[in-house]
Amino acid sequence: MTLPGVLLLDAAGPEAGALAMAAAARGHQVHAATTATAYEGYGPELKDLLAGHIVTDFARPDRALAELAAHARRRGVGAVLTVNEYLTELAAHLCAELGVPGNDPGRARAARDKAAMAEAFAAAGVRAPYTVLVRDKEGLRAALADPRVGFPCVIKPAAGAGSAGVRVVSGPAGAAEAVDAARAVAGMYASGGDPRVLVQAYAAGTEYSVESFTQGGTTTHLAVTHKQVTGGANRVETGHSLPVHLPPAVEAAVYRETEAAIRAAGIRHGASHTEVMVGRDGRCVVIEIGARLAAGQIGLLIQHALGVDVWAALLDVALGRPAALTPTARGYATVRFVTSPRAGRLTSFSGLPGTGPGVPFVRRRVAIGGLVHEPDANGHRLGSFVVTGPDAAEVEERADALLRQFRIHVEPMDGPGQVSPASTSAIAP
Ligand SMILES: Nc1ncnc2c1ncn2[C@@H]1O[C@H](COP(=O)(O)OP(=O)(O)OP(=O)(O)O)[C@@H](O)[C@H]1O
Ligand SMILES: [Mg+2]
Repeated sequence: MTLPGVLLLDAAGPEAGALAMAAAARGHQVHAATTATAYEGYGPELKDLLAGHIVTDFARPDRALAELAAHARRRGVGAVLTVNEYLTELAAHLCAELGVPGNDPGRARAARDKAAMAEAFAAAGVRAPYTVLVRDKEGLRAALADPRVGFPCVIKPAAGAGSAGVRVVSGPAGAAEAVDAARAVAGMYASGGDPRVLVQAYAAGTEYSVESFTQGGTTTHLAVTHKQVTGGANRVETGHSLPVHLPPAVEAAVYRETEAAIRAAGIRHGASHTEVMVGRDGRCVVIEIGARLAAGQIGLLIQHALGVDVWAALLDVALGRPAALTPTARGYATVRFVTSPRAGRLTSFSGLPGTGPGVPFVRRRVAIGGLVHEPDANGHRLGSFVVTGPDAAEVEERADALLRQFRIHVEPMDGPGQVSPASTSAIAP
């Protein structure tokens, strides 16, 4: 019997690689839809594993949809998957076009474009920060004067991701600059500038994400993840830990809002990653939802802490088969991201742990001589490592101790001929 083919929209990155390997290991022919430049960056192992690839232009989604549908039909594709935030809307349309399990294409924009998301949340009664869509100076003035926004507020690009261009603004003085910063963020496949920014009420509290799988409209929450995020004007993730066990009433509120968000974004078959803020009073607001598995090694954390094979589960959901989502382990896992506290040229880098017992994953993303940035977007991470074990407190302690070992030297670039060396250690969370 020939198994259905699997089409991955963008196969770059560790999550997509794991998914491709899981599908190939089960005997599926794996195809990748990619751009010409991205395909060049695929490693030899991934290229070997792929049964084929199609080069398309994701910046032209209508054309990409027609090309990918034709390719998928020719190759007997029976499942379409993506872990790329920017491609979840296209994935929903392609699934509908091919008649394979997928999300509601009519609502899929709500999981991608934060302006559409705010509208969908408001219409469905999902508790979310009050949000104003701003296109020009006049709109900004009106938003800042709106008492439902207030200060501090958050200014972010309407179609951004990876925390790029997201600023917490404490008063009117910083708003125009934050709008410029949000507008300067180019989406991964954006074909032109997007003048739209969101001005949002600031939600105070502790930040979590909920990792869920929905099949045929029924949702299973695999884990609540605690997000470590920097304070200050730029909010950047410094780590994730799971599973978190919230007090039952808080957990119920978090799940209720998450499920409402999942419905509002039309998620019917697939993973979702819902970011929430829980206030001191236990009330929960939804910051955003993604119609995909979480990035930042959260899939790996789930695998190690709960023993759930998320890659196999994603594949089963996309093929319309019941996914195995029951935990088989009762452990704990955390990831730490290492960053540079300043911009410049990296001259030395040491202390990142090696893989070994309790440290199943280590990734370094920067080479000596390379440029590093202050962390104002998730893309500025220099590396990451995962720590696992049976006890939450011990795992956190070990991860913090390992992070303290990390050292870098960065030469600031103050202009030609003005290089002043500096010795720094990583930002501790
Ligand atoms: N309304 C808000 N109130 C308080 N904090 C917020 C708000 N909006 C965003 N933040 C903070 O900024 C971070 C990034 O914002 P958001 O998730 O909207 O952007 P993003 O680009 O999708 O980020 P990522 O892809 O890293 O999740 C959030 O994780 C949160 O810490
Ligand atoms: Mg986010």
